[in-house]
Amino acid sequence: MSWFSNLWATTIGKKIVMAVTGLIVFGFVLGHMSGNLLIFAGPEVFNGYAHTLQTSGPLLWGTRITLLLAIPLHIVSAVQLTRLNMGARQQAYAKHEKKATTPMAMMMKYGGLLLMVFILLHLAHYTLHLTHPQFATYLTAEGHHDAYRMVIEGFSDPVYVGLYVLSMLALWGHLDHGAWSMFQTLGLSHPDYDDARRNFARVFAAIIVLGFSSVPIYVLITGGAA
Ligand code: HEM
Repeated sequence: MSWFSNLWATTIGKKIVMAVTGLIVFGFVLGHMSGNLLIFAGPEVFNGYAHTLQTSGPLLWGTRITLLLAIPLHIVSAVQLTRLNMGARQQAYAKHEKKATTPMAMMMKYGGLLLMVFILLHLAHYTLHLTHPQFATYLTAEGHHDAYRMVIEGFSDPVYVGLYVLSMLALWGHLDHGAWSMFQTLGLSHPDYDDARRNFARVFAAIIVLGFSSVPIYVLITGGAA
């Protein structure tokens, strides 16, 4: 692991760790959002999909372990880079009494914190069933977990719908700016392609966030009639 320690010891190394772990989470959110849209196909399809994932052994655990490594590394690299950046700016601005931060940096920081709280709440809600222990007892006629009923009931509460949609707004800003700077860090930037890079980040973030938000909003409005 000495290659990783060497990489981690430098500012550019931390940026690369942040970009690569961000890319991993992008891949996950794209897959997760696409799967969630199956709710619109009705209970059989959605429960079939949830059952396939839950019984997919290596895919499920491979994804969980990758995320358990990627998300903390993403957060730690972000915190360390912010500190390094603040230190450098405070020195540069010492004589000017300017604020040592930008609105974008503030949005990434506080939006990122909100997303962290969201992920913990989300796991407690739908994966660990800590907020609603009854979700664990919902079964389909085949005796599999009734994930469809769980999601419909979970979003029958406007407070949860509000929390999810608000968190998706934080995800929007985070993905929009994150996708853009990730390309830069990974060296995929060229003045000729800057507009394309900017547009890709915008469209990607909008698709992910609108796709995710459509589920709680649809359930709240229709009660989940498929
Ligand atoms: C409106 C938005 C979202 C909805 C409706 C949603 C829905 C769900 C559901 C129903 C499950 C449980 C699946 C099951 O066990 O059957 C789940 C699990 C999970 N979700 Fe989400 N999700 C949303 C957004 C997100 C976001 C933005 C992230 C991360 C950035 C995320 C990360 C996860 C993770 C890590 C799991 C646990 C997977 C596992 O290991 O079992 N979700 N989600």
